[in-house]
Order: sequence, then structure tokens, then C-alpha cells
Amino acid sequence: MFDINQLAEKIDFVNEIIRLKKEKNAVLLAHYYQTPEIQDIADFIGDSLELARKAKSTDADIIVFAGVHFMAETAKILNPQKTVLIPDLEAGCSLADSCPPILFKRFREENPNHIAITYINCSASIKALSDIICTSSNAEKIIRQIPVEQPIIFAPDRNLGAYLSKQTQREMLLWDGTCIVHEAFSEEKIISLKLEYPEAKVIAHPECEEIILRHSDFIGSTSKLLQFVQSDSATQFIVATESGIIHQMEKAEPDKIFIPAPPQENCSCNDCPYMKLNTLEKIYNSLINNSPQIIMDEDVRLKAVKPIEKMLEMS
Ligand code: 13P
Ligand code: SF4
Repeated sequence: MFDINQLAEKIDFVNEIIRLKKEKNAVLLAHYYQTPEIQDIADFIGDSLELARKAKSTDADIIVFAGVHFMAETAKILNPQKTVLIPDLEAGCSLADSCPPILFKRFREENPNHIAITYINCSASIKALSDIICTSSNAEKIIRQIPVEQPIIFAPDRNLGAYLSKQTQREMLLWDGTCIVHEAFSEEKIISLKLEYPEAKVIAHPECEEIILRHSDFIGSTSKLLQFVQSDSATQFIVATESGIIHQMEKAEPDKIFIPAPPQENCSCNDCPYMKLNTLEKIYNSLINNSPQIIMDEDVRLKAVKPIEKMLEMS
């Protein structure tokens, strides 16, 4: 009898993906939180800002987005004429889910004098209801360009919002969303790791809770953390962000030691379950089938593109 699993085992996904990309003029963009095998065959790896820029500048006909849904949506918003494939349509994001458009619209109506600076980790409908989009790489720079008398709503990540408020000395109205990965780190376990590795520096993503940021020697977006471990003289780092970035850190600095910050539970909660839904097999299938694709209402897209363009201008 024909067994589909046996057939899948025989396919050399890496070489097939390379062949299909060439044949279809497709580009594979991957976030740093993807598995090492996906990072290693991507045409471009980056953080949210770099991926948005790359999605805007590519001349490929097809973008395969190995990341999560809001990232592929951003690529489609910037490239309505291109086919944008997402290997698994279920690859969502807890932050994006925390901000339903009906509630956000009401929140904006209740605060009519505020402008909304919204983290890119949100749906296209939320982008369409926002004034400026930001990522963790450019949020501080963008907030500093807003006149001090202008009140600001920051959504959907309350931890990033609180960190930015402190950095910029601006009070902002914060939406109450969190990232399930970045809120999972254990302060107690980080303190014990610091005792075990007294020379190690703690580095953290600003989506982490304040209690974790307090113990950090450096705080930055995914790309900034990667740059830091390359420029800093320390040789050991406790890394409080999604574990996927450690692959690039180890490639860039093979003689340095990177210790993943442990989550509170005995789980792999520092692996984003949405990011890790993507596999080589699903990437291959998306290229073969031209599906799943990001399909978007043109009216929403036209509203969502404005705050993204604004972000690209301001960063
Ligand atoms: P950056 O890639 O912008 O650092 O964002 C991290 C993240 O959580 C992406 O989902
Ligand atoms: Fe969303 Fe957090 Fe996963 Fe990033 S790591 S995609 S913010 S759930």
C-alpha cells in the first residue's frame, strides 16, 4: 500500500527547497527563532525590523516566510502583488492574540487624544487601527521623535511598553498583552545561574518582565543581542530570549559559551511554540502547492500599510 510517510522520508527537503526556490524565483526569509536547519537554508535571517525591510526590497516573485503569521502578513502588506507563503497557518503569536480589533478600536475611541504606537507583533487589522508601527529595534527611536505633549497608547506588549516608558521617561497607556515565551523566565533560576557562572553576562529581550530585566547587563532586540555578544569582551552569556537565536550566536562566536535562561517550569517554554511549528517539510510543501498563502482584504491592507511605512521612514 502507498504510504505518504515513507515517501516524505525519501525526499531530500534541503535540496528540493533550494531547487524549488530557484525554479519559482522564491526567497526564503526566516526569523532568528526558527530551528537551526531552517536558519541554515534561509536566504535571509533577521529580526522583525530587518525582515520587514527585506520583504520590502526583494525582487523575488514569491516570499516564503518562515516566521509567524503577523510577519508574513507584514510582508504581504508591503508586497500586495507578490505571493506570500507561510508554511503553517497556525503559526500565530500570543501578543497578537491578546489584542482583538473590536477591543482595541474601543480603547482608541475612549482615548481620542492619544496616538497609537503599536508593536509589529499584531494582526493587520490592529495595524490598520494604529498610527505608527514599531519593533523592539526601533521603538525607542520612534517614541523619542514624538512631541512630549502628545499622549501615547502603546500596544500590545505591556513589558516592552513599561521598559520603553522607563527608557524614554514617557508615561504611556499600555495594552495588557504579553509574550508567553518572554514572560516564562525564572528570576530564581537566573540568580542561581549567575552564582554558578560568575563571569557570565545576562542579556535579555525587552519583552521579558521587569524582574528579569533588572538582572540584565544588556537589553535589546534579537539583532542587538546578537551584535552585543560579538562586540563585548565577555565569553559567557546567560540568554533570556527565545532559544533559536543561540544558533547564530554560536556560529558567530564559536569560542564563547551561551546558556539559555531557564523558564519557571520544567518545560521548553523558551522555545516559541508558534515559531517552532515551521519545518523543512512544511516549507517544501508550501513551495510545491503554492499554499498556504496570505490573503488580505485590500481595504485593511491600504490602512495597515500607512503606519508600517511611517515606521520605515522614522527608523
Ligand atoms: P525581534 O525579532 O524584533 O527582536 O522580536 C522578537 C519577537 O518576539 C518576534 O516575535
Ligand atoms: Fe509571539 Fe512571543 Fe512567539 Fe515572538 S516569541 S512570536 S512574541 S509568542
